[in-house]
Amino acid sequence: MYSEKVMDHFNNPRNVGEIEDPSGVGTVGNAKCGDIMRMYLDIDDNGVIQDAKFKTFGCGAAVATSSMATELVKGKTVEDALKVTNKAVMEALDGLPPVKVHCSLLAEEAIHSALWDYAEKHNITIEGLEKPVNDIGEKEEAVEEEY
Ligand code: FES
Repeated sequence: MYSEKVMDHFNNPRNVGEIEDPSGVGTVGNAKCGDIMRMYLDIDDNGVIQDAKFKTFGCGAAVATSSMATELVKGKTVEDALKVTNKAVMEALDGLPPVKVHCSLLAEEAIHSALWDYAEKHNITIEGLEKPVNDIGEKEEAVEEEY
């Protein structure tokens, strides 16, 4: 049911924890399943993500997607981090079962939420970044229809 990569990131999640005094932090949840994800980003003066950490209170796929998402955004500029979509995270994990697609959406939205916080704190606008939602329930329905 799950790819080896998903199992690996679930059993040995990378970047679990918190960043003290982060450049940006964001929390998103899914009211339907009750899962919550918090993402911390450390961003340098050039807008490059130096470190990313997460805490996820959720299902195994949510843990694996947050782990992969933090790995993918590290070393990227904030603009490039926007390209780390739920699809990109799923591809990097060699796929997820259809009923678990929404878990990867939580990871995408958590990154956006942390980037939004960073942008607000620094009074900047990140091209293409939309205001994140706290509960991804609505977005999820739209995405599930695609699969
Ligand atoms: Fe809710 Fe996976 S079941 S995020």
